[in-house]
Amino acid sequence: MMPLAQMADAVLRCGDGREKTALSRKLAAQWQGARAAGQTPEVGTASPPMQPARPARPELLAPRDVPHRKPGSPEGRIALLHAVAHIELNAVDLHWDIIARFSHVPMPMGFFDDWVKAADEESKHFNLMADCLEEMGSHYGALPAHAGMWRAAEDTAEDLMGRLAVVPMVLEARGLDVTPNMIRIFKQAKADSAVAALETIYAEEVAHVAYGSKWFHFLCGRENADPKEVFHTLVQKYFHGALKPPFNEEKRAEAGIPPDFYWPLAVST
Ligand SMILES: [Fe+2]
Ligand SMILES: [Fe+2]
Repeated sequence: MMPLAQMADAVLRCGDGREKTALSRKLAAQWQGARAAGQTPEVGTASPPMQPARPARPELLAPRDVPHRKPGSPEGRIALLHAVAHIELNAVDLHWDIIARFSHVPMPMGFFDDWVKAADEESKHFNLMADCLEEMGSHYGALPAHAGMWRAAEDTAEDLMGRLAVVPMVLEARGLDVTPNMIRIFKQAKADSAVAALETIYAEEVAHVAYGSKWFHFLCGRENADPKEVFHTLVQKYFHGALKPPFNEEKRAEAGIPPDFYWPLAVST
């Protein structure tokens, strides 16, 4: 079996969405199979690319140039699912990237188990979104998508605590805030498969935020640092902009992020 960091590197270098997620799920199953059999497979090291390989489509545009469509129409709902598919594909890469990028940092095996599981789930999420798009007569790549989603990864490429603070504890936590409203939109449109897919995503994302919080607190504890203070410092350093309420306080609490972590970084809108 390939060392884990090299599995991660291989997924990052695969461009096509469906191929990337197929490889991701296959390698995750290998790792999980070995772990379930009581083995401690090699993590190894890797030199991951600064940016993951991506398909030729979608065209990537600056956020202000991506056309904004109202979700009240079928076109608007396709655009919404397309945006989520794009987020999920980025998430696949983000979870493998934390493994490859920080494989040199001594961490307990559970750290790697968690991100392999998260990467596997993101792969499933991308496929669910791509399936929904195809069911609606579209596909991933049919519309332009946001460029710059990888910025958080680049900014925190040398700072594991910064990565944990910004990616799972800010960006993925934001997903918990906005997904319930998205589910409502698709319920109103009676789009059953999109509702089911988004409910799966919503349920599984709580754990990804929780993994972030767990390992962030672990590292703070190892350095005898105050987690809340470190979180505020790192988010201000690496995250561009303020956090946007309303927050899903219940799910954030379930994921181990207390209100005094995010409220001081918020602006009212
Ligand atoms: Fe996801
Ligand atoms: Fe996630």
